[in-house]
Amino acid sequence: MVSYKELGLVNTREMFARAINGGYAIPAFNFNNMEQLQAIIKAAAETKSPVILQVSSGARKYANQTLLRYMAQGAVEYAKELGWEHPQIALHLDHGNSFELCKSCVDFGFSSVMIDGSALPYEENIALTKQVVEYAHQFDVTVEAELGVLAGVEDEVAAEESHYTKPDEVIDFATRSGCDSLAISIGTSHGAYKFTPEQCTVDPKTGRLVPPPLAFDILDEIMKRLPGFPIVLHGSSSVPQEYVDIINANGGAMPNAVGIPEEQLRRAAKSAVCKINIDSDSRLAFTAAVRRVLTEKPGEFDPRKYCGPARDEMEKLYKHKIIEVLGSDGKAL
Ligand code: G3H
Ligand code: 13P
Ligand code: ZN
Repeated sequence: MVSYKELGLVNTREMFARAINGGYAIPAFNFNNMEQLQAIIKAAAETKSPVILQVSSGARKYANQTLLRYMAQGAVEYAKELGWEHPQIALHLDHGNSFELCKSCVDFGFSSVMIDGSALPYEENIALTKQVVEYAHQFDVTVEAELGVLAGVEDEVAAEESHYTKPDEVIDFATRSGCDSLAISIGTSHGAYKFTPEQCTVDPKTGRLVPPPLAFDILDEIMKRLPGFPIVLHGSSSVPQEYVDIINANGGAMPNAVGIPEEQLRRAAKSAVCKINIDSDSRLAFTAAVRRVLTEKPGEFDPRKYCGPARDEMEKLYKHKIIEVLGSDGKAL
């Protein structure tokens, strides 16, 4: 048993309370490799933003959970080296799908876990979440739950159709499960294709797809029923069209990739939404930079020469999210 506290990590309780009161959101960035982690920590340290490092099941398979955990521990030391005296870094399990997985993460030094029972029948979701909460709280590990199902299909996170969260269920769910934060469904989804072209309109000036707005009316209803309760938004990548264009101009094929417009995320960040999950945008930044280097220098075969620019591009992206979208810069204690 390793406590996250020994690793210099923090749970999300205080981060969320401060974010709700301060009208900003904490970035939750997924990481799978060293370049992503370096970019996240550099961006957080230089902007003095609390940050959540997320590990998905896909990341565990790709990079190994043990290695990722030690990388997170290393990230705390790296942050200090960058001059961040008391780093506020949480290590979070993204979309945990069983009690056993959540328990193993708690035992292994994670400071926060998500138990995603959103695809289960309501009572089973409550029962599973409660079981995880009872275990995790013994070690002061915070627990995110999910109510409502996101649309979209991605390797490890798949849902056939979107079911918005029902505001009438949230008090009962939060009270009986004991969760610390609640991920809700209001129209976001995972991946780089969040809406079909049929669901969008076309901007006559740019010819770009304009997605339908998020269901802020549902968010408002949820906040009325659970005042001050931490709300989480998954699937919050914006799918920057500059990256899609670079990818497409350098041998890629990502037609009709579309995300959540930044102004909607800005609005969400000012509300009780205190954790915003971003993964796909980092993948796009990485891929765009790598494709560009390899097109411009076809003879290049040193991975540092294309992973380095990819890392720089991700750092720029993370800083942009922190400063221009979530407003979490300067909020670290
Ligand atoms: O929520 C989904 C994250 O983007 C993780 O995706 O399962 O492909 O690692 P992944
Ligand atoms: P995106 O695919 O929009 O980046 O969402 C990531 C996410 O929700 C991770 O849990
Ligand atoms: Zn997610």
